Amino acid sequence: MSTDTCPPADQVPDVPVLRTLGNRRSIRYFDPDREVERWKIESMLQAARFASCQGNINATEAVVIQKDHCDIWDDVEDCVSGFNVQIINQASHLVLWLTNLNAWYGRAIDGISTVSLVGAAAKYHGWNYEFSMTQTLPRLMSFPKERTENLLRFETGQAVANAITAGVGLGVGNILIAFGRKPGGVEKALGLPDHYRFTWGHAVGYPLEEAQTGGQRPRLKMEALFHENAFGTPFRSDPATVELLKAKGLIQEQAPRPGRFEEMDAIADRFGRDKGVISFPAREIERLMADEDWDFGPHIRERAQWLVDNEDLPDYPEEMRQTFAHLLAEHGIDTAKYLPAAE
Ligand SMILES: Cc1cc2nc3c(=O)[nH]c(=O)nc-3n(C[C@H](O)[C@H](O)[C@H](O)COP(=O)(O)O)c2cc1C
Repeated sequence: MSTDTCPPADQVPDVPVLRTLGNRRSIRYFDPDREVERWKIESMLQAARFASCQGNINATEAVVIQKDHCDIWDDVEDCVSGFNVQIINQASHLVLWLTNLNAWYGRAIDGISTVSLVGAAAKYHGWNYEFSMTQTLPRLMSFPKERTENLLRFETGQAVANAITAGVGLGVGNILIAFGRKPGGVEKALGLPDHYRFTWGHAVGYPLEEAQTGGQRPRLKMEALFHENAFGTPFRSDPATVELLKAKGLIQEQAPRPGRFEEMDAIADRFGRDKGVISFPAREIERLMADEDWDFGPHIRERAQWLVDNEDLPDYPEEMRQTFAHLLAEHGIDTAKYLPAAE
């Protein structure tokens, strides 16, 4: 691990939170020659520690590993989904986020006690010592493990988001990493007790790509995601608020800005890796661009049109269309919305 000391506070730029949130991107190209300073890793972990947690039980833990400093790297690498292997090997640190289920059963009483000692749980809100001891706490502590796991993993997500936000504010790149290749492998490599869950992997490093990755990645429109007062009633976006958020840096120019694909190819050349991105069939691209739910800006539309006009795009494999149709139908999802029509 790096042993660098942390700088004086006035040498660390303050980035406002809305801009920090807007600056966040999943970084997939890390500079293998730059190590993230230990104080920045600590700052991210400290941010995770102060994320809200149910009943103050502190269920989220993490193991921070570095390729050249730990004995379990090869075992961990074996568990990472194929498309993430290159990412973790060029990253500076890998954070393995854990959820301790026994925090719920073991620390429920102490957690509530701490919030009452510091003036955060009051009779005003209905807290009552006898009721807590005879009803609330025994009920919580009798939850089946699956329910506890659901609750606590949500909490770990909160902590991870805090860590990522802190990292972005300090100029550090982040990406969450799937470990689907070998279920149970990380738990085994770490030697985790039974009541721990490995919740997610998180690679950290200095971006080799431009830190804004050529623009903000597209999302669904506000109205397709959020509801007001009743499910199905869209929470409408206000153009004036959007303008404000653009000025504050939360909403940024959408990807892909000019030069993005050249940047990716140049990095691929430098490391002797395959160049280019995957492409979908023309009628898939056209169907997606026509989907009203997405908030697509001009750059992505231009890119889509350019691909359709210039590239030799693959055909939609009919047998896969049928497989996807079957999988969507199992969930009662409208296949016409998500799949091209049969030829
Ligand atoms: C829980 C979670 C897991 C993810 N896993 C992966 C992953 O395994 N590999 C990867 O390249 N990106 C992964 N991502 C990143 C998403 O694909 C990414 O959010 C998406 O590309 C949108 O881009 P943005 O994060 O830059 O806004 C993950 C994101 C989340 C929230």
